Amino acid sequence: MKRICVVGTGYVGLVSGTGLADFGNHVVCVDIDKDKIELLKKGKIPIYEPGLKEVVDRNVKAGRLRFSTDIDKAIRDSEVVFSAVGTPPGEGGEADLRAVWAVATVFAKNLDGYKVFVNKSTVPVGTGRKVYELIRELAGRDASFDVVSNPEFLREGSAVGDFLHPDRVVIGSSNPKATEIMKDVYKALYLRKTPYVETNIESAELIKYASNAFLATKITFINEIANLCDKVGADVHVVAEAMGQDGRISPKFLHPGPGYGGSCFPKDTMALVEIFKEVGIKTKVVEAVVEANEHQKALVVDRLKELIPDLKGKVIAILGLSFKPNTDDTRFSPSKVVIPLLEKEGARVQCYDPVATKDFKRDFPDLDYKKSAYDACQGADAVILMTEWNEFRGLDLEEIKKLLKSPVFLDTRNVYDPADMRERGFIYGSVGRAHIR
Ligand code: UDX
Repeated sequence: MKRICVVGTGYVGLVSGTGLADFGNHVVCVDIDKDKIELLKKGKIPIYEPGLKEVVDRNVKAGRLRFSTDIDKAIRDSEVVFSAVGTPPGEGGEADLRAVWAVATVFAKNLDGYKVFVNKSTVPVGTGRKVYELIRELAGRDASFDVVSNPEFLREGSAVGDFLHPDRVVIGSSNPKATEIMKDVYKALYLRKTPYVETNIESAELIKYASNAFLATKITFINEIANLCDKVGADVHVVAEAMGQDGRISPKFLHPGPGYGGSCFPKDTMALVEIFKEVGIKTKVVEAVVEANEHQKALVVDRLKELIPDLKGKVIAILGLSFKPNTDDTRFSPSKVVIPLLEKEGARVQCYDPVATKDFKRDFPDLDYKKSAYDACQGADAVILMTEWNEFRGLDLEEIKKLLKSPVFLDTRNVYDPADMRERGFIYGSVGRAHIR
């Protein structure tokens, strides 16, 4: 078991630090954000992530997990330093690595014996080498350290389970000594026979981008097939299910919707396009995925106009602001594209989300935020279900119909049954199921 420091207490850092402590390591999570660390010290979790508080509490209680703003000391006290800082898209779509360089710099300053620097954040191929060179330059020729790439595949909303039960652990390293240390860090998983992928740094970095871009492609592909289903009278769910029965395809990530969002797929696909450009070769596939996904988000408004052609002066209820359920994260959420387009058409929006309102308000401070789905539907000319939160799966539909000025219901996540909705008297639209009467 190792002494570990995790720098960055965002989704990835906080969940990873907590999970690593749960594996039996001694972990200190650090951040430059004093408020966040203060909250964590008080036992409060700054993000909405189901199940995280329980795991944080049990590891704090066991003395394996601490929080601090003293990055220098945390690094000096650790054998393994995880960098889990943000790598948001820069102006050209490339990953902004300033936070990673900052962690590498403070790591170099505090290098007082052999330590492993682990890149947990998603970083472009080649970053591991550059981090190594930077630390070497700053810490001197005699400094003893290794740089490892250990990408993380957790999903928001199910992050704790994903971290504790991963499909595989990827370790990219150029020194067997560092690989062995990483195996020790993840010993609890090793004992459970979780597959390990031991490879070089570049492969590890690319595994993450390739996986995310592939999943984004899969979603985008089924979205396009759904759009086609609407035109030709096919049912996208039957098509997806039968496609998924082919073991080479698999049924996962074939659910159509309003386009993918979140902190990973949009950023990583854009960054991958930039990586291709940088090395001077072309990616037609990933570039097309980025473009098609933006189009899919905008299509929501076209779908609504098929139900009510003129949106001018209409009131539209939006249910769901986060990019998916069980998270308060609204980065690249489809609602962020759909709401301004509705307003451009002259509509007025009333919106509601169970937890993501605060995050959404940062970009849209002046929207009409309501306290419940029912408040949002009150007096609206149509409702659009944008995120499949459980509470939107069990709506009192009779009540919703009464509250709406006209019973127009656009279900971008295909939560409801089209035949049932029409029987109930709704003018109902969804994605890839237009034929169902
Ligand atoms: C994703 C990856 O799954 C994870 O491995 C990686 O580490 C980070 O990025 P996350 O963004 O948290 O995780 O959520 P995910 O559940 O993958 O969903 C991403 C987006 O795709 C959401 O907007 C979701 O609504 C959409 N989606 C997903 C679909 O539209 N259809 C699907 O079938 C699956």
